[in-house]
Amino acid sequence: MSERRPVMAANWKMHHDHLAAIQAIQKLSYLLDVNDYDACDIVVCPPFTDIRPLQNLIEGDNIPLLLGAQNCHWEDNGAFTGEVAAPMLAKLNVSYVIVGHSERRQLFGETDEWVNKKARAVLKHGMSPIVCVGETLEERERGDTDDRVSSQTRAAFAGIKASEAERCVVAYEPIWAIGTGHNATPEDVNETVGAIRRVLKDLCGAVAMEMRIQYGGSVKPGNIAQLMAMPEIDGALVGGASLDPDDFARIVRYRG
Ligand code: PGA
Repeated sequence: MSERRPVMAANWKMHHDHLAAIQAIQKLSYLLDVNDYDACDIVVCPPFTDIRPLQNLIEGDNIPLLLGAQNCHWEDNGAFTGEVAAPMLAKLNVSYVIVGHSERRQLFGETDEWVNKKARAVLKHGMSPIVCVGETLEERERGDTDDRVSSQTRAAFAGIKASEAERCVVAYEPIWAIGTGHNATPEDVNETVGAIRRVLKDLCGAVAMEMRIQYGGSVKPGNIAQLMAMPEIDGALVGGASLDPDDFARIVRYRG
């Protein structure tokens, strides 16, 4: 287990309208207690339309959950129909923004260059990017996993200073493990996360040892403890299992 403070993030993707979101967070906050919040950063990344109502709930009831978003544009404002800018999220006290999720890369054509611009915009507005990297099944079978995640990491962190990198989180999400019920073994994840950390060390220096690197891809209450037992893994980005407050609370409480 690492000494870095774990970050457990729920990626709700395109699920839960704002009423369902309020119910889910009320239930989650009922299930979690002060020891859970002391032990790790607990982040919820809902759809954009849920952020304002959840900000009201979290701040009104003093719930120590952190708000995240699933995406943003890199410009502060402008003629970009349908996009949401980083300063708009910062204004809602959003702390984390996922950038470069594989669904955005694969379904919406996001490039490494965009991911870098988004990460820098998130940092510029005082928030922390959760930078997603991960290989396809073909890349894995060809033995290209380390090369793929290394090049994605290098591209995402181009021009980011060490002082800013410290605030960044990386999520290693093998694409073939997302939403499929297939996991990489904890040992394989640990090795790949170690490779990502070596790249970060090369780019940002000693600060890489403080940076949190999560695993994502079919994380469930039943496999989180084995993953968190690995020295390189500092938390999880959880999709499907995060929609159920009971399951997400059990993941946050992986220590038992
Ligand atoms: P999953 O999604 O937990 O449903 O596999 C993870 C993710 O896409 O972040």
